[in-house]
Amino acid sequence: MITNGIHHRSQITKDLKLKDFFGVDKRISITLYDQILDLPNAEDLAERILLLFSDERGAYKRTYRKRFEEFDKVVLTLIEKNLKGPLLFQDVGISDGRTAADFFEKGAQLFQKIIYTASDYNPKVYVIEKRTVKTTLSQTGKVLEIVWPPFVFNLSRPDRYYPLNTVIRWFIQFFKVNPLIAAYKAGKVKAKELLLFCPAALNLAKKDPRFILEQHDLLKPFKEQSHIIRAMNVLNTTYFSKPEFEKVITYIHDGLLANGLFITGSNQDAGSLVHGGVYQKTTQGFEKLWQSGEGSPIDEMIMDFSKTSH
Ligand SMILES: C[S@@+](CC[C@H](N)C(=O)[O-])C[C@H]1O[C@@H](n2cnc3c(N)ncnc32)[C@H](O)[C@@H]1O
Repeated sequence: MITNGIHHRSQITKDLKLKDFFGVDKRISITLYDQILDLPNAEDLAERILLLFSDERGAYKRTYRKRFEEFDKVVLTLIEKNLKGPLLFQDVGISDGRTAADFFEKGAQLFQKIIYTASDYNPKVYVIEKRTVKTTLSQTGKVLEIVWPPFVFNLSRPDRYYPLNTVIRWFIQFFKVNPLIAAYKAGKVKAKELLLFCPAALNLAKKDPRFILEQHDLLKPFKEQSHIIRAMNVLNTTYFSKPEFEKVITYIHDGLLANGLFITGSNQDAGSLVHGGVYQKTTQGFEKLWQSGEGSPIDEMIMDFSKTSH
């Protein structure tokens, strides 16, 4: 069996169901990501594209609007109580940025003077093309997707039920994509950069200079210090080992200004209980100001962190 994909914007605007002959969702190419932002159903389309697209580590971009309403309410009162004046804010591991846009919109109503930098480990991909073939590469050059109309081959989630697609993809990869990548590496082909944040976050960054989208790896130090660092659903054992957590916590401590706040927590679907808390930077480590649910999955490591031992 064989299937094709959605590789041109006109297919999206015409075919609203975007299903194949068997009723299965057709793959929408990641290369259309920046061409759908003005469509009325941009959020649904962007979500659909990203749900079938994982980065080179296999991580998916999955967030929900209104994910931590109750948690956010308490957090905002703690910020109001503990910090005064203009606020420098870092929201890290934001995935496609839905929860960051949500929190910025609430925070900006309370604090007019705020610079909110929202980042993720891997928000960019690069598209290169020559004649009929297009390929999307990760930051390290790994092939994530190939478009050879009418086919869209997603290499992070290959078409298991369509063996013929796999055979065609091997040929295209060997005869078209490999030479294209060689031409790109030789500087003969230019790449187009795509930022994989959700339309709400991309549009917010365009219209409000206080909301900035960036790349940041938690295993690297912050470029500058902030009053607040927020890390939601990222400080989990699925992402980091114990020695890596020690690094991450050290960088967060160093990345905070004196008495700065560290907000962290993990939950499931929108509205589910957040296990997390708010910590305040002290000269030696962190003091816990508030705990939600059972507390952060790494509460013990945060509380045991001591500046002098690092
Ligand atoms: C489950 S999402 C959480 C998104 C959002 N904060 C939320 O709570 O809805 C986790 C995100 O953490 C990011 N991440 C994983 N390792 C990271 C690292 N070393 N530095 C920064 N972000 C990282 C992943 O890319 C992913 O987008």
